[in-house]
Amino acid sequence: MKQEKIILTGDRPTGKLHIGHYVGSLKRRVELQNSGLYDKIFIFEADGQALTDNIDNPEKVRQNVIEVALDYLACGIDPSKSTIFIQSQIPELCELTFYFMDLVTVSRLQRNPTVKTEIQMRNFETSIPVGFFTYPISQAADITAFKATTVPVGEDQEPMLEQAREIVRRFNYIYGETLVEPDILLPDNTACLRLPGTDGKAKMSKSLGNCIYLSDPADEVEKKIRSMYTDPDHLRVSDPGKVEGNTVFTYLDAFSRPEHFSRYLPDYANLDELKAHYRRGGLGDVKVKKFLSAVMQEELEPIRQRRKEFEKDIPAVYDMLRQGCEVAREAAAQTLSEVRRAMKINYFEDEALIAEQAARFKTQA
Ligand code: TRP
Repeated sequence: MKQEKIILTGDRPTGKLHIGHYVGSLKRRVELQNSGLYDKIFIFEADGQALTDNIDNPEKVRQNVIEVALDYLACGIDPSKSTIFIQSQIPELCELTFYFMDLVTVSRLQRNPTVKTEIQMRNFETSIPVGFFTYPISQAADITAFKATTVPVGEDQEPMLEQAREIVRRFNYIYGETLVEPDILLPDNTACLRLPGTDGKAKMSKSLGNCIYLSDPADEVEKKIRSMYTDPDHLRVSDPGKVEGNTVFTYLDAFSRPEHFSRYLPDYANLDELKAHYRRGGLGDVKVKKFLSAVMQEELEPIRQRRKEFEKDIPAVYDMLRQGCEVAREAAAQTLSEVRRAMKINYFEDEALIAEQAARFKTQA
């Protein structure tokens, strides 16, 4: 049988999605969804994973499940083409995680760079919840339960994919060819790999208050762009300015296209010309920010409009999620039945086993 091409990816529902999520992955997902190149697409909310470091705050996760679903729909993820589901509703994922636990060592988990930085960021020090520590294993289950071949995520997820591939190789080596090794699919625009926060800090994060959300109203986006971090040494318009590390330009790298220039800033043919002028001096931050604002509003307005439409019928959104969970569960159950057979724990389905054992005990009698 020809191997199916299957996409799986997801997000932790710990907050509304922001433009970093959008350029880093959501936009790409929609393109992949509409490319017709994939046999199946699974997009899910990793609420179980979100709980690994929010165990005392279940309400936060519960509230954000619907927010993230709305963000998905607003961006153009289409439930008739992609299965949208919620991790916790698929018990097969816990089962697979349980089996995978035996294939991974504690020291291997301790070396996972993403887990390492996240532990530091959360000041867990020595009181790391076991579930948090082992979430790379559960993430490997998320991916392999659906036999995903392609996982479009940001570069911070690279260690997760590497770990998942190791688990698949180990599983298949011990139990025979059963699971599929997934490939990571990174954003193709390097500015999109990780969009900095509006304050210039490395990452957009809710706790730093430096995000532009997909659901932010237009005037809020405007305000956030107006107060965005640029080049702190670019004091007068006539001063030469730095483009590197200048958040406004990083966002333009991620969002602007040549046609935006003819529309909003026809004095420049493209971003390179704009950058050159900024470097030379004589170009003020306000003008660049106004341009960025126009570009971003053009991209975000249709998303906001679609979100508003879906917000009008919230029960229908939950219903869509419920149906997605049913479809996802069927796919995961199929894989789990193959996994149990490979691991020789499918006792009641294995008539040969029962007959063989019966014969063994008869000769002993
Ligand atoms: N860890 C991912 C994140 O923080 C979310 C996630 C969980 C995920 N399971 C996944 C992403 C499986 C891709 C595939 O964004």
